[in-house]
Order: sequence, then structure tokens, then C-alpha cells
Amino acid sequence: AKNVGILAIDIYFPPTYIQQEALEAHDGASKGKYTIGLGQDCMAFCTEVEDVISMSLTVVTSLLEKYGIDPKQIGRLEVGSETVIDKSKSIKTFLMQIFEKHGNTDIEGVDSTNACYGGTAALFNCVNWVESSSWDGRYGLVVCTDSAVYAEGPARPTGGAAAIAMLVGPDAPIGFESKLRGSHMSHVYDFYKPNLASEYPVVDGKLSQTCYLMALDSCYKQLCHKYEKLEGKQFSISDADYFVFHSPYNKLVQKSFARLLFNDFMRNASSIDEVAKEKLAPFSTLSNDETYQSRDLEKITQQLAKPLYDAKVQPSTLIPKQVGNMYTASLYAAFISLLHNRNNSLTGNRVVLFSYGSGSTATMFSLKLNEGQAPFSLSNISAILNVDKKLKSRHELVPEKFVEIMQLMEHRYGAKDFVTSKDCSLLPAGSYYLTEVDSLYRRFYAKK
Ligand code: ACO
Repeated sequence: AKNVGILAIDIYFPPTYIQQEALEAHDGASKGKYTIGLGQDCMAFCTEVEDVISMSLTVVTSLLEKYGIDPKQIGRLEVGSETVIDKSKSIKTFLMQIFEKHGNTDIEGVDSTNACYGGTAALFNCVNWVESSSWDGRYGLVVCTDSAVYAEGPARPTGGAAAIAMLVGPDAPIGFESKLRGSHMSHVYDFYKPNLASEYPVVDGKLSQTCYLMALDSCYKQLCHKYEKLEGKQFSISDADYFVFHSPYNKLVQKSFARLLFNDFMRNASSIDEVAKEKLAPFSTLSNDETYQSRDLEKITQQLAKPLYDAKVQPSTLIPKQVGNMYTASLYAAFISLLHNRNNSLTGNRVVLFSYGSGSTATMFSLKLNEGQAPFSLSNISAILNVDKKLKSRHELVPEKFVEIMQLMEHRYGAKDFVTSKDCSLLPAGSYYLTEVDSLYRRFYAKK
């Protein structure tokens, strides 16, 4: 198949959220730490009736309905998630409920897991399948679903939750530039989940930031190198219209784009003007390790990158700032924000995406956009996403309520033999919700 890529995309995030400003005050953090310091506005979270399975049931059903896709037309279903509900049974098998009803059990694929990277692995698997000799002409479907929750402490404001579904096939408006890709994979203990009795990760926040930026540098170098071999000319940030980053919190995205500018400076790229060259010259002698520690370098590169950040990055930051870190869904929620904010001016544009999963696995890859054919057109995708409405119809809860729900969820994690409140009054029509976990740990869901 030719021009394989994303044909359609849909997002679901819980309608329940807190304001970061309110959480700051509640946590006794200094005013502005979460909003300006981390760059976050709001944080969505699952209440006791939602989880990664209900959210993915909701988003898959919604995508199939809104684009009029017959469930029999799906030939591969891949899920990316790092939220462990079962150590053996995949989330994909829960989603089979949707397809079995229509007599379709002939669907390949299972779950992919490595922190926030699983969604990208799932997406690559689907694209590769459609491009391969085992493709049977049907669509691939990718689901990224996570509930990001942290123990009380500095990481707690960097949570979030969402599920995203992406339909993969040929002649796509969102096409892969498959040769333009760079990966960086290594063994680090920056963020991991060794405690199987808890949903919360063990996290070395500072180390995770540095590992993220080191992986970014390494992927960017690989991508530039491959572009240069292919095209016979240098690649720099001016060769992409937009950069979309995995977004644990917005400040790291600001630092990441500034880091690309510093990379361009070190590579003597044409994107760097004389003023920037002069300002960055004092930093050219730093060792690589020192470049990650220098606050001055961070500040100056961020200042220099600001106009380009506003043009090439800012349009992708809406949902991550409003919803928080959605782990595997985070990068694609940023990409959806770009589709939403720029939907009628993306034709012909190149969008470079950076996916990072702690541990660590990372890939930078490139997409080329065209308007496409209805229903798989950028304008229809954007209309169906209806991001403004989804954001506006949410319900704000107070931090005390959030903490209370987190405590209940800690208690419920890995538990059996309970029924939920079944209170779906805050959920949009069509949402799935958890009703019961029986004495054999079997989970039951209903649809609103
Ligand atoms: N007003 C404005 N800014 C403030 C204020 C204030 N009152 N107080 C602090 N800040 C700034 C700090 O200067 C800092 O910004 P800087 O980095 O530009 O200097 C920022 O707010 C955060 O403050 P820190 O003291 O660095 O925050 P802390 O160490 O308490 O926690 C962290 C931040 C490490 C990100 C934590 O939330 C965490 O561990 N999160 C989870 C890990 C994570 O998301 N890692 C990212 C990659 S891995 C992944 O995706 C999971």
C-alpha cells in the first residue's frame, strides 16, 4: 500500500478535572509553581467509574461511529498503555467486545508497553502491517490509553488521563515520511513501576528530565543525519513547519524546543542567525554533560527560541496543558491540538514528532500532511474532534475531592469484589463506565 498513515483520529479525556492553580494552593506549593513553573493549566483524572479500559471502549466506539467504519473493516488492533490492570490479559482483548458483536474476531495485534512510548510502538506496528505483504486490505486501529497518577508530592501535578484512537491505512492525509526517523534506546532508571501493588511509579524527576533531553538530542542528531544522507543537504528546525513533543508538562516542551535550537547552533546550521551565534558562542566549549546542567544556557536558548516556539510548537500545546500528561496519549493529544488549531492551513506541511518513554525508549519521526478525501480529510477530522466542546463541557472538582478519589483508587487498585457507585452523571452520552469487579477480578462495564 502507498502513502500509509493516519486516516482518522479521535480523543476522549475524562470530563472531571482540577485547576492547577487550586492544586498549588491546596498543596502549599508557591504560587505559580504548577502554572508558570510547570506550565500547566488543568489536570484531568478518572473518577472511580472510569479507567483505561472504559476510556478506550469509549474512544474506539466513537471513532467507528463518527467515521462510519464497519467494525468488520478492522484487521489489526494495537494498544499502547503503561497502566497495568492485568499482568497477562491485554487491554486489546477487552476492546474485542466491540468487534465480536459484529462477527469480527479476525484481528491481529496485542498491547505494547514501555512507559509513554507504547502508543508509538503500536502506531509503527500498524503502519508497518499496512505496508507489508501480510496486509489484507483492511484498516489498522491504534489505541493509546493511560491514567497518569502519582503519589502525593512534587510529581502529583504532572498527572492526567486520556484515550486516543487512530485509524491507519493507505492514501492518508497524515502520511509517514518513513525514512525520516531517529531512535534512542538505553537502560536508565528514571521512571519505572516496580511495585506491582501500587499504580504509582517510582520517579527520579530530575533524572527523567535529563534523560528526556538526552534522548531528544540523540534522536534529532539521527534524524538530521538521515535527512542529510537522503537529501544531500543539511536539516535544521527551519525544515519542519511544526514540532510536536511528548508533553509530561509544558515547561519541558519549551526546554526541548530550545534544545533543538542549541543543536542547530552546535551543527552550525543555517537556521541560526548572527545574533543567536553571538549569544551562544560562550557555551560552545561546554562538555555535553555541562550543557544539561547550565541554567544560563537553558535561559538564553529559551529566549532565542521564543518566536519560533510560538510559531512551530505553541499550536500543539493546548490539550496537554488542559488535561496534563496522558502518558502514551500525550504526544498524540499534542498532535490533535495542532490539527485543531491549524486545520485549514496544514496542507503540504511537515510535522516532526518526538516520542519519549522512560526507561528509556524514544523516536523522532516525521509526518507530511495533505487535505485528503472526505471522510478522511483534515477539515473533517478537526470537526469530528470538536476539541473546544470537549474542553468546555468539563466539570471542575476541588482538590479535596481529587485527593479523596485518589485515596479510593489506591484502595481499589488490584482489588476484587466491589461495585462502583455507577454514577455516570458527569460523563458524556455514549461513555463506557466501570460498574463492578467480581470475586474473580472480572471487570464489567456499561454504556451511558
Ligand atoms: N513560580 C514560577 N515558577 C516556579 C515557582 C513559582 N512560584 N516555583 C518553582 N518554579 C519553577 C522552577 O524554577 C522549575 O522551573 P525550571 O525548571 O525552569 O527552573 C519548575 O517550576 C519546577 O520546579 P521544580 O522545583 O524543578 O519542581 P519539582 O522538582 O518539585 O518537580 C518534576 C518537578 C521533577 C517535573 C516533578 O513534577 C516530577 O517528578 N514529575 C514526574 C516526572 C516527569 O514528568 N518527567 C518528565 C519526563 S518522563 C515522563 O514523561 C513521565
